[in-house]
Amino acid sequence: MAQQSHTSDHISRRQLLTALGGTVVVGAIATPFGFDTNRIEVNEDTLHLDNFDADGIKIAVISDLHSETQDGLKRCSQAFDLASRAKPDVVVMPGDFATRGYEHTKEILRQTFELMGMFSCPVLVTHGNHDYGMTGNKRDGRKSRVIEAMRHSNVIHLPNQIHKFQGLTFWGIDDAVVGNDRYDYFDGAVPKNTVVLLHEPDVVDRVPKGCSLMISGHTHGGQICLPFGIPITGPPLGKKYFSGFYSHTPTALFVSKGIGVTTGFRYCCPPEVNILTLRRA
Ligand SMILES: [Fe+2]
Repeated sequence: MAQQSHTSDHISRRQLLTALGGTVVVGAIATPFGFDTNRIEVNEDTLHLDNFDADGIKIAVISDLHSETQDGLKRCSQAFDLASRAKPDVVVMPGDFATRGYEHTKEILRQTFELMGMFSCPVLVTHGNHDYGMTGNKRDGRKSRVIEAMRHSNVIHLPNQIHKFQGLTFWGIDDAVVGNDRYDYFDGAVPKNTVVLLHEPDVVDRVPKGCSLMISGHTHGGQICLPFGIPITGPPLGKKYFSGFYSHTPTALFVSKGIGVTTGFRYCCPPEVNILTLRRA
């Protein structure tokens, strides 16, 4: 059975909560009081996975950048720097690079993708609903400034595509809210050590059997939460799994709170960069 262990830059709080209530409680109340839009946490987790033997690979997850203002760009710069210091083997960004894929984001996006050049490892990206535009109704990625910026950068773009790296198969599945998600890439069995990148966590039950892990974002952890980080509501396809590791889903699932905002601020829900070390169960 898939399992998790956790450390972070707020280790004392996590340790205290663990001592008080165990891992289930920690997942629900591990954030403090207050406005914390720009206080990026670095949370480290070791995930023990089924159908997995690429022991020890380190993945940095930076989700939901929503980089379309100077503040957003600055937050990305900080997050990239924090992730880079962890010396990951690979960086994954499972969608929502900006909130609106239109003209006014063009220069900020260009700079955002240029900043990703600081990584000395591959950067793998998939689309989120906002990458198609505000409403999520624009299935045609050719009209999106976000997707255009991805295509002109050095990131590895995985809309319903795979990328093999260090014995793993990273499978980027396109956005589910806009209906571009496809699950039939493999004719037969899914290869061992397959990690799915799919923006919306609640479609984890659509992923074929045999995948080791799915990494998502989308929820922002609730973004504006009740004290102790209790989410109030979530977006479409982001209402069941808000943040952290879920080992009892059909495929083991990790949901990042991401670094960006769509409401202008976060409350009781700081942004996070996740450093995941994957190990066999
Ligand atoms: Fe988002």
